[in-house]
Amino acid sequence: MNDRLDELRRREAEALEGGGPERQQAQHERGKLTARERLDLLLDPGSFVELDRFVTHRSHEFGLGERRIPGDGVVTGHGTVDGRTVWVFSQDFTVFGGSLSEAHAEKICKVVDLALKTGHPVVGLNDSGGARIQEGVASLGGYAELFLRNTLASGVVPQVSAILGPCAGGAVYSPAITDFVCMVEGLSYMFVTGPNVVKTVTHEEVSFDDLGGATVHGEKSGVSHFTFPDEAACLDGIRRLLSYLPANNREDPPVVDTGDEPDRRSPGLRQVVPENPNKPYDMHAVVGEVVDRASFLEVHADYAKNLMVGFARLGGRSVGVVANQPAVLAGVLDIDASLKGARFVRFCDAFNLPLLTFEDVPGFLPGTGQEWGGIIKHGAKLLYAYCEATVPKLTVILRKAYGGAYDVMSSKHIRGDLNLAWPSAEIAVMGPKGAVEILWKREIAEAEDPESRVEELTAEYRERFAHPYVAAERGYLDDVIDPADTRFRLIAGLEALHQKRDANPPRKHGNIPL
Ligand code: HXC
Repeated sequence: MNDRLDELRRREAEALEGGGPERQQAQHERGKLTARERLDLLLDPGSFVELDRFVTHRSHEFGLGERRIPGDGVVTGHGTVDGRTVWVFSQDFTVFGGSLSEAHAEKICKVVDLALKTGHPVVGLNDSGGARIQEGVASLGGYAELFLRNTLASGVVPQVSAILGPCAGGAVYSPAITDFVCMVEGLSYMFVTGPNVVKTVTHEEVSFDDLGGATVHGEKSGVSHFTFPDEAACLDGIRRLLSYLPANNREDPPVVDTGDEPDRRSPGLRQVVPENPNKPYDMHAVVGEVVDRASFLEVHADYAKNLMVGFARLGGRSVGVVANQPAVLAGVLDIDASLKGARFVRFCDAFNLPLLTFEDVPGFLPGTGQEWGGIIKHGAKLLYAYCEATVPKLTVILRKAYGGAYDVMSSKHIRGDLNLAWPSAEIAVMGPKGAVEILWKREIAEAEDPESRVEELTAEYRERFAHPYVAAERGYLDDVIDPADTRFRLIAGLEALHQKRDANPPRKHGNIPL
């Protein structure tokens, strides 16, 4: 037996070495952690259980027969985060650049299959040169098997991807199907084809960073949801993200005692909305004051900043927050904001997270750029997402709720459950000045002093329509409240609604305007 145990120890040691000390040192010199060091930071200490550490590739082409490394470039298994099980894989760049072979893909597919069967989240730590070039179509097949599993697991278990190195080719599409992509400044890259191919095809000269770095994907493309300064912060951020989420779509999200009083009043909120309707204010101040202290975890913080989305706790319960941001583009809805909001709303609905909407929106952004870019179909995505969502939907209108944007932002008509407004709310087809200029066009043109006539008519219009009471009289608003009571009222509403059950008609799936 001792001999056999020695053999096991020898093989174990070989598997732990990955691509060997030199390549591990090179990984550190690149400023990167190794695959196992990353898992140590992600998971609770001592909780990682590895699977498939002796798996090797089965190829012989291009001298691969002589280079078989146990584990084949990916460390897989399960562990816990805050005591809750997660399935994990962590690609090892020291073994063939973390490239995906058939066997490597099988290992990842195994944990995704198990995650789906057991109902626990999957976290993938990606650091890969893409398809293993020497394996050709077997490697492409491996990617397709993974894409299929990511798709089948979508909406069943949360899937989180960290990009912790260069991710090229097929290596970007698996993360793109998952729910959240996390990147690290100066270390993470995602592109379908790298700078060299770009130069050949389009003659553009572009750096790794400018083509697919963390800033580009966090601010411009929206491919990445979270940007972190370093790997430790990234892995810690994933732990925090998971703390808001249920393990699967049949569970309710965790309830946590945050110690923040449910009946804490916020008199300061009475001063947040400026008297002048054209003046901006920062919606972060409102969200931060209403939800449990320091519990707001913003998603896509640097992308389409005119709409804020993120997770928070309200009376200890996890919620998804969607909020127009008047401090950026007056909080208008444009293409990027619609895409960002729609995807977030659908995630929350899939995982039983009630939606909390803070509304101050002047409408959809006009202009050729938006129309030609398809604001109609993209705005429709946000509308569709809110319409189909069956989780509890709570809305507070702070100021403007104009036009189609009033309908879209979780209005009563699309199954809003609790619709509240502050006394400063203005609910109308459009802003007073625009409305007046259309309704009294001829009268204004014929007036002796058109400007002062517009002012008079605007004041009249404002008096008649720019308040919440027409909507409240019709029951489109359930109540108009003192801003100071917002937190208390939302917590009471959430308590009353959290067991809500609603459903959509039976069908294979809807046809969201993609
Ligand atoms: C096999 C690979 C590899 C790959 C890297 N390596 N990528 N081996 N297949 N795809 C190996 C290298 O040979 C090297 O081995 C080691 O990994 C480290 O690579 P370096 O190039 O030395 O590292 P670095 O300079 O940091 O550059 C990293 C890189 C670059 C940017 C990822 O390696 C690269 O551009 N790789 C190719 C990317 C790519 O085009 N992949 C195919 C995409 S097509 P040694 O032995 O020297 O340590 C694809 C199709 C799927 O994925 C489509 C599905 C939709």
